[in-house]
Amino acid sequence: MRRVGIIGVGEYLPKKVLTNADLEKMVDTSDEWITSRTGIKKRRIAAKNEAASDLATKAAKEALLDAGLKGEELDLIIVATITGDMSFPSTACFLQNALSAKQAICFDISAACAGFVYAITIAQQFIARGTCKNALVVGTEVLSSVTDWKDRNTCVLFGDGAGAVVLSEVKSGGILSTYLGSDGSKTDLLLLPAGGSRKPATHQTIDDGLHYIKMQGNELFKIAVTSMTEAAQIALKRAGLECKDIDLVIPHQANIRIILAMAKKLGLPKDRIYLNIEKYGNMSSASTATALCEAVKEGRIKKGDIVLLDAFGAGLVWGACVIKW
Ligand code: ACO
Repeated sequence: MRRVGIIGVGEYLPKKVLTNADLEKMVDTSDEWITSRTGIKKRRIAAKNEAASDLATKAAKEALLDAGLKGEELDLIIVATITGDMSFPSTACFLQNALSAKQAICFDISAACAGFVYAITIAQQFIARGTCKNALVVGTEVLSSVTDWKDRNTCVLFGDGAGAVVLSEVKSGGILSTYLGSDGSKTDLLLLPAGGSRKPATHQTIDDGLHYIKMQGNELFKIAVTSMTEAAQIALKRAGLECKDIDLVIPHQANIRIILAMAKKLGLPKDRIYLNIEKYGNMSSASTATALCEAVKEGRIKKGDIVLLDAFGAGLVWGACVIKW
């Protein structure tokens, strides 16, 4: 089996910034509530003409440049998204065309906020077995397109963005272990009820607001802490490492209280946790992806560091990945 690592990172955040003060004018909320309950101060919102593949294209171009590769050199593109351009074709195919990546196998995966960790795990298998050489993995979301801007329970939480990585064979380090988990008995805790084959779009589904995210945040909170903690422990065990060996954790950024509760359970100090929730909110699959990219750009990850990606989301799904940089 080949050793697989990340050889390039990139990101794209839409220009428009929506602050907590802006939200105070839209729903019955306050900067104090949002900041203290979630850690979020602002988020980015895609322009009307920006779809998931547009965000993904910009992030991917930056990642390709960082990796020193051209689109034609990719033989695999996996896009993790729950807000793809359309139900079909896949957002990965739109991205392929934008990158002129004619040789690439392209598909999307739906694993909500854990999508980026899921997609990295899948790409690793393709490269490790020699089926593919260079893979592009992108987490891209336009959650603003499925957010009910009248529902204070959800609209303060989400944002738009994209993060990308290029994976290839590496001589040393790379992905040391991965772990994925799912629990389909709790699909009702976080879902977008209409628009699929269960409830195709009708005037009624629109009137009932069923094309927006519905979430039981309170229930999810507890499960998120437990699942992310366990995912970290299992992935570390598989890598033959312990919590003390981690240089930086890149967690999914759903709520700062979830992240800090997980860190406490793992016995990790705050300075070993990377946070970007304050500026971007929860961007589902794009959260872990952009956090990883920014941690690299800011010099928080250096060669030889042990990095832990850890995520949890709708499904329920969760996963972790240990990487030696
Ligand atoms: N402004 C002011 N008050 C609010 C707001 C708001 N924006 N939203 C809710 N409230 C109120 C509620 O109505 C409630 O009032 P009540 O006590 O009078 O009924 C009160 O605040 C407390 O509400 P809770 O839901 O208990 O608040 P909580 O502290 O649990 O925070 C939150 C809510 C932020 C959603 C939290 O539960 C959370 O982060 N959950 C996890 C989300 C998550 O992990 N999702 C999975 C990943 S996302 C993905 O896969 C796409």
